[in-house]
Amino acid sequence: MDQDAVNFFKEKKSWSPYKDLILNYYLGPYLAKVALLKKPILVVDCFAGPGKFDDGEIGSPLIIANHLEKCSVKGIGVKGFFVEKEPELFSKLERNVQHYSFPIITKNSSFQDVVDELSEYAKSHTVFVYADPIKPSHLAFNDLRSVYDHLWKSGQSIECLINFLSFGFLRAVEGIKDYIVTDRTINVGHDNTVKWDAIAGGDYWHKNLLENLPSGEKVDLLANGYSVQLGRWFKYVLKYPIREKYEDSLPKYHLIFGSRYPDAVDIINRAMVKARREFVGSRFVKGMLFDNRPKEEVVDEDEIKDYLISTLQRNNHTTWKLLRVTTTLDHPCMYTDSEFNRNIKKLIQNKIIKSNCPGTRNEDDAEVWL
Ligand SMILES: C[S@@+](CC[C@H](N)C(=O)[O-])C[C@H]1O[C@@H](n2cnc3c(N)ncnc32)[C@H](O)[C@@H]1O
Repeated sequence: MDQDAVNFFKEKKSWSPYKDLILNYYLGPYLAKVALLKKPILVVDCFAGPGKFDDGEIGSPLIIANHLEKCSVKGIGVKGFFVEKEPELFSKLERNVQHYSFPIITKNSSFQDVVDELSEYAKSHTVFVYADPIKPSHLAFNDLRSVYDHLWKSGQSIECLINFLSFGFLRAVEGIKDYIVTDRTINVGHDNTVKWDAIAGGDYWHKNLLENLPSGEKVDLLANGYSVQLGRWFKYVLKYPIREKYEDSLPKYHLIFGSRYPDAVDIINRAMVKARREFVGSRFVKGMLFDNRPKEEVVDEDEIKDYLISTLQRNNHTTWKLLRVTTTLDHPCMYTDSEFNRNIKKLIQNKIIKSNCPGTRNEDDAEVWL
């Protein structure tokens, strides 16, 4: 029995609700949007767990199932595909999902063993993949590769939200440093190097072992490297560091999202902004006499305008939507799409941004330039 996995579900960690919030907040508008494609929808939880913690809190498969049930009631064709390796947790999962009325495929196996089956679904379904492992070594980058490859082969919509255990990864590779580094050179043929290259999806992490950087920077480099690898399949990649405390320089992990659709950027960013604001609010606002938020956590309309203008300085003559999406990608998890839209309107009305629309309402297809 995997005791770590069983213990994990005794009680939800204080930082997990922010991870759940992003998944939960994203799924509503995502499912509404992909329902318009009129294809069956499959939501995959690769590392499902039992669905409920011993303290009664619900986990990702039930968060997903609650959304899918609502879609199913509206006549949208949805399926859940939940994979859990540990038999004891799997039995609980089966019990916890049995009352749903839409189809749920549950697998008591390692998700690596069902990737071919998933790839088959990816040929005909719109697929959303959620992967939330307990240990970095449980998910090799290439495990999901054949699913992602269907993006190219069949042109289907596939999106992913991965919990990249950046801090655990760093700790693990620092632990093998003495075995794989000699004279400031990494032995690229060493079994350990090959293993961690496969988990990372590349060798970008080698630099972390050779350079003397602060741990916070190392973890950011890892999350950036992983995002770049995902960028080989997904045009749009956003990441969000989940911290235990606001002051922590090291996150527990990074949630990394990939999609080919600009509309998905608006939605996931909105979810990440919400998580960030709730996290900041719980530390600096909730239960306080005054709002004590640090300056960089307060919405600054002038900053939003500066960001938008600097996007246009680099990519002059674009559409309203791409101005918003590109600025979001440059400054993710900071401001929502409606805050960007409000400021695009003001900039057009004040003739700082030129456009073929008057700037009185949102017009995603309008042209904008300086
Ligand atoms: C972090 S937990 C998942 C938590 C879940 N997402 C939630 O929010 O409730 C990871 C789960 O993956 C399971 N697991 C580990 N390796 C696996 C694998 N290769 N395939 C499928 N499940 C695996 C563990 O037993 C554990 O239940």
